[in-house]
Amino acid sequence: MILETKNLEFHYPDGTKAIDDISITIPEGKKVSFVGKNGSGKSTLFLLLNGTLKPKKGNVIYGGKNVDYSSSGLRDLRKKVGIVFQNSDDQLFAPTVYQDIAFGPLNLGYSKDEIDRVVNQMLDHFGLHHIKDKPPHHLSGGQKKRVAIAGVLAMDPEVIILDEPLSNLDPVGADEILDILNELNDLGKTIIISTHDVDLAYKWSDYVYLLSDSRLVDEGIPEDVFSVDEQVRNSALKSPFILDVYRELEKRWLATGNKQPKDIPELVQSLNSIDLMRVNIAPEVAVGECVNLGVLFGDFTKEGLYEAVNSRVLFKNDDGTAVVELKRRVLKPGAIYVYDMDSFDKDEFDKIVSEYDINFIGAMGKKSKDIAESQGINVVCNSGVIDKSILNAITGSRCLILTSSGMVSHTAKRVREYIQNSGIRLIFSPIGKSAAELDSRNENSAELEIEQENELETKQES
Ligand SMILES: Nc1ncnc2c1ncn2[C@@H]1O[C@H](COP(=O)(O)OP(=O)(O)O)[C@@H](O)[C@H]1O
Ligand SMILES: [Mg+2]
Repeated sequence: MILETKNLEFHYPDGTKAIDDISITIPEGKKVSFVGKNGSGKSTLFLLLNGTLKPKKGNVIYGGKNVDYSSSGLRDLRKKVGIVFQNSDDQLFAPTVYQDIAFGPLNLGYSKDEIDRVVNQMLDHFGLHHIKDKPPHHLSGGQKKRVAIAGVLAMDPEVIILDEPLSNLDPVGADEILDILNELNDLGKTIIISTHDVDLAYKWSDYVYLLSDSRLVDEGIPEDVFSVDEQVRNSALKSPFILDVYRELEKRWLATGNKQPKDIPELVQSLNSIDLMRVNIAPEVAVGECVNLGVLFGDFTKEGLYEAVNSRVLFKNDDGTAVVELKRRVLKPGAIYVYDMDSFDKDEFDKIVSEYDINFIGAMGKKSKDIAESQGINVVCNSGVIDKSILNAITGSRCLILTSSGMVSHTAKRVREYIQNSGIRLIFSPIGKSAAELDSRNENSAELEIEQENELETKQES
C-alpha cells in the first residue's frame, strides 16, 4: 500500500463536515478513481492526501508511515504525492510555461543544468515547446492542463492525484489527458483521479471508491461497484451508459453471458452472432433458393469480417422481405499497425502506408498529432484512437496508429489484450523503428505472431 487513510475526519472552519470516517488503501501502480457527485468530499480528501489540509481525526499514511506535518515532512510528502488541481488557474502562476514547469525542480534544489534538462524533457513530452515562453493564462484549457501535469511530473512523484482532470476539456483534449495518464501509469506511477463521470471511472479505473455526503459508500473493481444499480443511484449517480446498453441487448437475447463490457470493442465482442436474418429479396427468388448478401458488418464481425454467400431463403413474407439462413465466409482479417512518431522518417512512413495498404490513420498524444499535422498526414481519428482502430480492424480496415515512444507499449498491451480475450482474428504489429524498440523490451511475444495475411478461410460453407 503506497497511500492510506484511517478513520479520516475533517471539518471546515465554518463547521461543514467534509470528510467523515474515511479509510482507504491505495495500492502502488494502480489507476484509482474517487467517484461522487459535487460536494461529496473528493477535493477535500485530495487536499488531505497531500498534506495541504490536516485531519481533525484519523491519519494519512504514506509508505507505511503516518504523515509528518512539520515543514520538512510536508516537503517530503509533496515530492512523492503530486496534485493537479481541478482549475489550472489555481495551479499555474509563473510568468511563462517554462518557469512554471521549472518551479518544482527549483524548489527541490536541482542544479540549473538539471532543471533545464528536466523542463525540456517535459516540454518535449507534452508537445509544449512552441509555447514555452507564453504566459500560462493565455493558453487553452487543454494546454493549461498539460502544463499543470508537466509541472507536477517534473518533480518525479510516485503518486499523481488529479482533481476532475477532464472537466472543462473538449473531447479531443480530454482524450489527450487520458492518454497521458495511461502512459504515466504504464511507467509505474500510481494515478488517482476524482470524477462524477461514471463512464470514465468505469472504463478507466483499476479500482473505484464511491463517495456520498462525505462518506465512503462502496469500493472495489469498477465491474462490482457499478453493477449495483441502487447503490449508484443512492450516490446520485447514474450507471455507466455502456452497461445500460448491454443490459437492454441482453434482455433481447442479442447478447448473453452476463458480461460487463467496458468499451465499444468489448460490447461488440459480447454480441451473439445471428444465423437468421430478415432481408429484402427480388420477387423472382423462391423459397429454398440461395442469395448472396455481400459483406456484412456489425454483429457479423465476431472472429473477423464476413461475407454472406449462398444464404438460403427459408421463408418469404408478403412485403417482399424474406428470412434467410446465413452462410458465412471469413474474409481477410483487418490489421492494426503501430508507428512510433518519435523516430518519424518520411520515406519509411510513406512506404509503410502504401505497402501495408493502410486506409485508416489515427494519432494519439499531442506530440504525434503535431508531427502528423506538420507532415500533412491524413489523420482521420484523433480521439479514442485505440478503440476506433479495433472497431475498424474487425470490420476489415487496415489501421495505422501514430503515437510516441511511451505510448507504444500501452497501445500494444491494449490491442493484444483485446485480441486474446475476444479470440477475434486480427493482425497486430508495431512497425518501423518502434517494432525494434518493443522487440528489445521483449514485448513482441511469440504468441501473437503476425497471421498469414492472405489466408482465406471458409466457414459453414456447404
Ligand atoms: N473552503 C470551504 N469552506 C467550507 N466548506 C467547504 C469548503 N470547501 C468545500 N466545502 C464543503 O465541503 C463539502 C465537500 O466539498 P468538496 O470536497 O469540494 O466536494 P467535491 O470535490 O466532491 O465536490 C461540501 O459540503 C462543500 O460545500
Ligand atoms: Mg471538487
